[in-house]
Amino acid sequence: MIELVIPDAEAMEALGARLAPLLRAGDLVQLDGELGAGKTTFTRGLGAALGTREAITSPTFVLAREHPTTSGTPLVHVDAYRLATAVELEDLDLDWEHSIVVVEWGAGKLDDAGDRIELMIERPHGGDPLAEDSPRHVRIAGVGDRWKDLDATPWTAAF
Ligand SMILES: Nc1ncnc2c1ncn2[C@@H]1O[C@H](COP(=O)(O)OP(=O)(O)O)[C@@H](O)[C@H]1O
Ligand SMILES: [Mg+2]
Repeated sequence: MIELVIPDAEAMEALGARLAPLLRAGDLVQLDGELGAGKTTFTRGLGAALGTREAITSPTFVLAREHPTTSGTPLVHVDAYRLATAVELEDLDLDWEHSIVVVEWGAGKLDDAGDRIELMIERPHGGDPLAEDSPRHVRIAGVGDRWKDLDATPWTAAF
């Protein structure tokens, strides 16, 4: 488990960008944390680093959005907030194998999805999450063989 303090939204995007070079087709990234924690902000930085044509925004009203990237492997961005179960996630009929898939609100809904990297983002001080930059606590864990050698080095450089 890697634990970080991310001081502001810009640093959260930079954190997403740091994950980009580690990812390949078939990888799954699970993001959890309350509304306004910074899941979409993280994904925006990840998408920019993967070279998506358009900026990542919250997919709340479309469940899943596929973004072509410069590598040819699309980034599929899922907001599972309104999904109750893993079964529904499977029903989305995503091309998991050939995509990098990021799922916001994945906790408890991806239990059969196998290897993945999980980020839990916490806002320690409460208050209005959209008001201004404030630190987030981020825990990063690798699940399964794919991530068994997850190395803290790329994550720990100062922002
Ligand atoms: N340290 C931080 N990390 C990420 N976002 C932050 C931080 N501080 C303030 N913010 C703000 O919090 C909001 C996070 O929103 P968003 O990324 O959409 O959250 P989520 O997708 O988890 O609901 C943004 O308005 C962002 O600018
Ligand atoms: Mg979001």
